[in-house]
Amino acid sequence: MTDHYAVIGNPVAHSKSPAIHAAFAHQTGQHLEYGRILGSLDDFAGDVRRFVAEGGRGLNVTVPFKQQAWDLLGDRSPRAEAAGAVNTIIVLDGGLLRGDNTDGVGLVRDLAANQGFDFDGKRVLLLGAGGAARGALGPLLEAGPTALILANRTAAKAVELAATAADARVRGCALDELSGQRFDLIINATSIGLAGSTPAIPDDCLAEGGWTYDMFYGDEPTPFCRWGTEHGAARALDGLGMLVEQAAESFALWRGVRPRTPPVIELLRSGAPER
Ligand SMILES: NC(=O)c1ccc[n+]([C@@H]2O[C@H](COP(=O)([O-])OP(=O)(O)OC[C@H]3O[C@@H](n4cnc5c(N)ncnc54)[C@H](OP(=O)(O)O)[C@@H]3O)[C@@H](O)[C@H]2O)c1
Repeated sequence: MTDHYAVIGNPVAHSKSPAIHAAFAHQTGQHLEYGRILGSLDDFAGDVRRFVAEGGRGLNVTVPFKQQAWDLLGDRSPRAEAAGAVNTIIVLDGGLLRGDNTDGVGLVRDLAANQGFDFDGKRVLLLGAGGAARGALGPLLEAGPTALILANRTAAKAVELAATAADARVRGCALDELSGQRFDLIINATSIGLAGSTPAIPDDCLAEGGWTYDMFYGDEPTPFCRWGTEHGAARALDGLGMLVEQAAESFALWRGVRPRTPPVIELLRSGAPER
């Protein structure tokens, strides 16, 4: 029998996850179907229950349900617990549900393994304090930077998030407190790209040879990728690689097989038709 998986979000029609998981399944010889579910804004729990009752084996959760998924699931991995958000639901034998968060590990894998960024001794600026930033915090610290500064429009949220790390390398502040500081890597984990804009950070906060990384992605260079290029970034990357890496981690959790990601990233970059 073919196992069923899906991404649940609202909206969800634009999601690249079905194409990514179809490519992983083909590559690894796994038999599965992966679809899209347009989640109802007032009954996310009901949608999940129905999917499981119909025999579904796992879900990816996207905007705006990651926090609701966290609330719904009592059994959460430590990294989901720390992130306060669930992007992967695993249906265990007997229909029990476990929540995980693969976004942060996906970000770090894309930066370190795919792009070759060496975090050792580096100063990193993480912009934003929402779900994506929360998920990234632990994996970024494990990667070994010297300093990790969290800056957010609403400063209190960055300060609060920094405190959860209980790590001397981490500090939270407002966007306008960054003047005079330089960073080797600036990661945009805000949703401002959707509005076609970039966070208000000082023009000179990227160190010479520094990189920028936008979790947002699109067919064209994102506004923050353009900011990086215009401000001398040695590399200005978007979040497509992160998207594929977080999917690969979910796939490995569900299927016990880790797909190779570079060909799938390449496939998406080439604009191959999506399902
Ligand atoms: N590539 C991937 O695989 C991947 C995975 C996850 C997320 N993402 C992307 O990451 C981004 C953030 O997602 P999320 O789930 O963390 O969203 P979220 O929880 O809604 O958080 C949004 C963040 O953006 C900030 N923000 C929003 N508008 C802003 C503005 N005009 N100026 C400055 N800051 C602004 C918010 O600041 P306040 O606290 O002040 O409101 C908050 O920190 C999205 O673009 C999402 O697509 C990508």
